[in-house]
Amino acid sequence: EDEEFLAAFQARIDAELKIEPNDPMPAGYRKTLVRQIAQHAHSEIVGMLPEGNWITRAPTLRRKAALLAKVQDEGGHGLYLYSAAETLGVSREELVGQLLSGKAKYSSIFNYPAITWADIGTIGWLVDGAAIMNQIPLCRCSFGPYARAMIRVCKEESFHQRQGYEIMLTLCKGSDEQKAMAQDALDRWWWPSLMMFGPHDADSTHSDQSMAWKIKRFTNDELRQKFIDATVPQAEFLGLTMPDPDLKWNEEKGGYDHGEIDWDEFWRVVKGDGICNRDRMKARRKAHDDNTWVREAALAYAEKTAARETA
Ligand code: 3HC
Repeated sequence: EDEEFLAAFQARIDAELKIEPNDPMPAGYRKTLVRQIAQHAHSEIVGMLPEGNWITRAPTLRRKAALLAKVQDEGGHGLYLYSAAETLGVSREELVGQLLSGKAKYSSIFNYPAITWADIGTIGWLVDGAAIMNQIPLCRCSFGPYARAMIRVCKEESFHQRQGYEIMLTLCKGSDEQKAMAQDALDRWWWPSLMMFGPHDADSTHSDQSMAWKIKRFTNDELRQKFIDATVPQAEFLGLTMPDPDLKWNEEKGGYDHGEIDWDEFWRVVKGDGICNRDRMKARRKAHDDNTWVREAALAYAEKTAARETA
């Protein structure tokens, strides 16, 4: 594209105009949005697996109902996001094919195992808590369909975070064993939750351009810091110990200093060598194969209905 076109597009972004699917847009803008929205959708769908595992093992009917509702919500978020990506001219089949072939990424956090019931509380509290931190600014993303999808997603995410924190509150007020289970889950999920925000800004491939195009409103490190500052007091209220000996309030900065994230672990998990990567991909491929008949039936029905309408 020529400089004039790019400058005119940037002027629209700077004027806070929403970009809609049929608007002229730089190829790079379209490409990075398809990448991010599709990976966001893949994350929602794969994220149903660790939690779905506990629906039949929830300790009470109330917990089961809340978890069932949350997992169904995540599936809906995935469909919303695939639909938003489709407005940019890609097909759902193509996007799902990229996930199942291992070509497309999904959030590293979902490659960790949900070992005890406290993990379900911690996932709601920390993983959905981090997702809210990241998704609220996306409600103001310059691309219309993505921003609008985020509004409902964020409302449901708040319920997910509350129900998770309430599970943690119940466990921490319970027996010593229950509190120890909550502490063990926090120890295992804290650092992987920080990795959800992506590499440090200095190592972030897309941040500068995504900030310029107002796809991102804050950088990875800014959102991570907001998440840490909001979450540490919640852990203190639970009476749990943060698994980071370097965590310390920095009055001058008005936020917590913290220990270094293990970026070798981050890249190992992103590249497919986490604890559950193979299980997650196997489960998704099996579900896709098992549901072939559903897709074929839906297509046959759509063709029959269309033929009837044109007859
Ligand atoms: N897991 C896997 N890959 C990650 C990652 C993570 N936690 N963090 C970053 N990456 C990847 C990026 O995708 C990029 O790779 P790519 O070029 O192949 O796409 C690379 O690492 C470099 O990272 P960047 O910072 O340059 O990438 P982005 O600018 O895209 O920032 C992001 C990463 C902050 C995750 C951004 O993509 C984003 O905000 N995405 C939308 C939100 C999202 O996807 N959240 C994931 C969790 S969904 C969820 O939690 C659902 C809830 O219901 C539980």
